[in-house]
Amino acid sequence: MIRSFLKDTDFSRSEAAEVFDLAYRYKTMRSAGIIDVLRGESWGLIFFKKSTRTRLSFEAGVYELGGHPMVMNASDLQLSRGETIEDTAKIMGRFLHGLVIRTFGQDIVEDFAKYSGIPVVNALTDLLHPCQSYADMFTIMERFGGGIPNVESLKGRKLVFYGDTACNMAYSLALAGSMFGMNVVLCGPEEFKPAPVLDSLFAEAHLPSNYTFCSDPEAAARGADVLYTDVWVSMGKEEEKAERIKIMSPYQVNEKLFSLTAENSIFMHCLPAHAGEEVSEDVLRGPRSIVFDQAENRLHVQKAILSTLVSKNRQAAKM
Ligand code: CP
Repeated sequence: MIRSFLKDTDFSRSEAAEVFDLAYRYKTMRSAGIIDVLRGESWGLIFFKKSTRTRLSFEAGVYELGGHPMVMNASDLQLSRGETIEDTAKIMGRFLHGLVIRTFGQDIVEDFAKYSGIPVVNALTDLLHPCQSYADMFTIMERFGGGIPNVESLKGRKLVFYGDTACNMAYSLALAGSMFGMNVVLCGPEEFKPAPVLDSLFAEAHLPSNYTFCSDPEAAARGADVLYTDVWVSMGKEEEKAERIKIMSPYQVNEKLFSLTAENSIFMHCLPAHAGEEVSEDVLRGPRSIVFDQAENRLHVQKAILSTLVSKNRQAAKM
């Protein structure tokens, strides 16, 4: 069975720790040049949705691992004219060595993995954004673990995610944070509280549902180490913009919330940000903000995810 990375919990805790160690090595030795992990391999990067960070970090990452990245907008493929995912995936499996996919339903990445016979990486679905949450865990460890990615430094840290807590970013942070013993609080309006699917994801992974939901922004911020937010209007929700901004405005991350947090608390955002909406301009641009470290770490962590997947699949093929 070819392994893919479709959910945050597709790596065990110890495998994820290996990913972080490797990401640290890739980050510190980047100037040494190209590594031969994907030499001779062509990886398809398919985008059904817009992207800046994910597209650039995967394209540069596959190249830096010695492979050939082939970026495709889904609208340019025969898929957009009715060819099925099953046939597209079977064809891609004949040409390519792996796929990175940003799309809508989680079933789409699952179907690509099922029919292509090659490893598939989830580069964001409506349900989850696991590459982002892994880069976020790595960035929090860098900050609180003295620069070294020690998973023990995550244990007991309080991360509060503000805004639409029924979104992919909230779910991925709840899953990844819980894997490493963080205290994850999802804070937003009742109308946008996590759906039952989040508890199903925990149950499927045999992981206790360690996150909590809270609708009081100030109570949630007390003693927090990380305040995290994302845009209030995600891709595909544009028609709900006015209503979402109105309901979520009490959940803006600003200096008032930071006055309640732990001493060395930090601000995180997966970007792109809308300053003045989900985060105040002074917090986004201020000294607590580590959003650009977070974005850079996408590259190092995703290279490590690809390497780890390829290495696990090669080991399994030898057995
Ligand atoms: N955070 C993130 O996934 O950024 P992009 O949408 O630019 O890829």
